[in-house]
Amino acid sequence: MNTTAPISPRRILVTSALPYANGSLHLGHLLEHIQTDIWVRYQRMRGNECHYVCADDTHGTAIMLKAEEQGISPEQLIEQVRTEHIADFNDFLISHDNYYSTHSDENRNFSNSIYLKLKERGFIAERTITQAFDPEKQLFLADRYIKGSCPKCKAADQYGDNCEACGATYSPVDLIDPFSTISGATPVEKDSLHYFFKLPEFAEFLDTWLNNKKLQPAVSNKLREWLEAGLIEWDISRDAPYFGFEIPEAPDKYFYVWLDAPIGYMASFQDYCQRSNINFDEFWDKESAQAAGTELYHFIGKDIINFHGLFWPAIMDASDLRLPSAIFAHGFLSVDGAKMSKSRGTFITARSYLEHFQPEYLRYFFAARLGNSVDDIDLNLEEFVQKCNADLVGKLVNIASRCAGFIGKRFNNTLAIQAENLNLMDELAQAGDDIANAYEQREFSKAMRQIMALADKANQYIDERKPWVIAKQDDSEAELQAICTTGVMAFAQLIAYLKPVLPALAEASEAFLNIPLEWQGNTSRLSGATINKFKPLLQRLDVKTITSLLDDNKKISEPSEKNSPKKTKKKKPSASTDAQDIADEIEIDDFFKVDLRIALITKAEHVEGAEKLLKLSLDLGTEQRTVFSGIKSAYAPSDLEGKLTVMVANLKPRKMRFGMSEGMVLAASDGDGIFILEPHAGAVPGMRVT
Ligand code: 2FM
Ligand code: ZN
Repeated sequence: MNTTAPISPRRILVTSALPYANGSLHLGHLLEHIQTDIWVRYQRMRGNECHYVCADDTHGTAIMLKAEEQGISPEQLIEQVRTEHIADFNDFLISHDNYYSTHSDENRNFSNSIYLKLKERGFIAERTITQAFDPEKQLFLADRYIKGSCPKCKAADQYGDNCEACGATYSPVDLIDPFSTISGATPVEKDSLHYFFKLPEFAEFLDTWLNNKKLQPAVSNKLREWLEAGLIEWDISRDAPYFGFEIPEAPDKYFYVWLDAPIGYMASFQDYCQRSNINFDEFWDKESAQAAGTELYHFIGKDIINFHGLFWPAIMDASDLRLPSAIFAHGFLSVDGAKMSKSRGTFITARSYLEHFQPEYLRYFFAARLGNSVDDIDLNLEEFVQKCNADLVGKLVNIASRCAGFIGKRFNNTLAIQAENLNLMDELAQAGDDIANAYEQREFSKAMRQIMALADKANQYIDERKPWVIAKQDDSEAELQAICTTGVMAFAQLIAYLKPVLPALAEASEAFLNIPLEWQGNTSRLSGATINKFKPLLQRLDVKTITSLLDDNKKISEPSEKNSPKKTKKKKPSASTDAQDIADEIEIDDFFKVDLRIALITKAEHVEGAEKLLKLSLDLGTEQRTVFSGIKSAYAPSDLEGKLTVMVANLKPRKMRFGMSEGMVLAASDGDGIFILEPHAGAVPGMRVT
């Protein structure tokens, strides 16, 4: 008996974060949508009412600029991108009930009405602020659209708010030679009226919300840190030109994209409700949702927990919406141990993956790596190939292929009335509750381990009973049929447990077995049943495919990440390429003040939360140093370990956000690449460089 099965079906609404409509989907998006989809499919399989909606996040400056760059309207761009996103998600078997757009009438109406309610209730403040403005483009510039040299260490090409080379934080006005990354013009300062949501008024509410255990501990701890540091009013308006919704009663002022994005969850659901006889209010209105006992879950990446864990619940509370039942955050995805990188070909788009591998291998690999924490996940491509081959082909499908041939050839596809090994069948059935629990808790890796351990047992049984030997013995028909029936029934149960992860394999298996696969109880339906001819269900992966996948992705240009465009139109040359920018002359004695040493990189590691930094452990012959270096975009840690380089050994240690940096590694850079310096053979750690 299954004790975790709910007595009456739960009524659940699930969302994944809305992908921006300015680029192709990549494996990072898929990690989230696959995680959500597995959970949703599991809920549905257990008989719960589970709706899953998403949409493209279509507003903001980045999308406006991208459309302009392509010579099309933002509306055209978002339509094209949405079509592409829908095709990608479908091909990865993501079972959204609706994939909508934040640029919709429903979203405009909800955004307006929520805003007007906030305003009426006194939660909106208005004041004039001064911001950087691009005089050429006639556009206010967010910090990420301003670059220049770091006022502290002079590193070129740093963004407007912090230096990834030395860790300094500053305001864009402090940058040396600042320029707009959009037009190249020097920004000026300009005033404009902005609208703010009075978030600090919700401090007490948020304190209670964070105590309610609806969040993972790491997430609520982080949010509590922010709460305790003091909330500030949230700027929810942007000036024209902006692609978005104009704010009611505020001409030329637009809702900031992050105001209408989560409201887009509601808009997508409403569009779906209109077509499917579901009561919208029972999932969103505070009172109706409470009366109906519905649940709401947002799956997101850990980079956006502030929006979902603080701003969004405060807005919901302020406007009589129900609160999320929980927010499920996941970690970042790296590929082959490093941040996805275009130059290494590991910035893998959804489409290019599909051109090389079947979607379910990735679904399985992610499931095998995902737990319910915010830990980062690495997709090591060789491990991916090996694991899929070993588990899915070598263990799982092998059970069916070892038995089905005999059932076909010797028994006209008919199974025996009973399995031979009832203990094995019992063990498989008994495991159902534990596996269910692991799915429910989003402990997918645990579920996969349990299922594969059961597959091992089924294979062991077949190894011991050796149907291929029995098949050659006289008078062994009944025995052979019972052994092979055990194998087929075990396979059916295992596939049922894997159905949320591998829906297409489950469908093909259902066609082979002639029955729909349910969580439990299938074995009885297979007693004496006639099944279909077995066809190979999965192919082994070839490790060589990885090379062509990486090569293809080196050719694809990296989509803009978040809202920050990578391409700058007219970039000012950085110091290292412009002769006029060469620093003032120094005396030889000044040069000798710098203690340059050969260092051996003994270890290189990622730094959680740092976009550009690697943590290097350096051996100087007589001592060890730790240095944080802004070279992550150019090197995977494994590329660096064991290499010699040159470091400034007497640089005063600097406290960075991630720890103490005890020196600096020398690298050449022209804004397009970073190249660490490496001595000729023969140099040894500690040697002085002069
Ligand atoms: O971070 C992002 O990719 C956003 N487009 C996610 C939005 S989720 C929701 F709030 F709409
Ligand atoms: Zn700096």
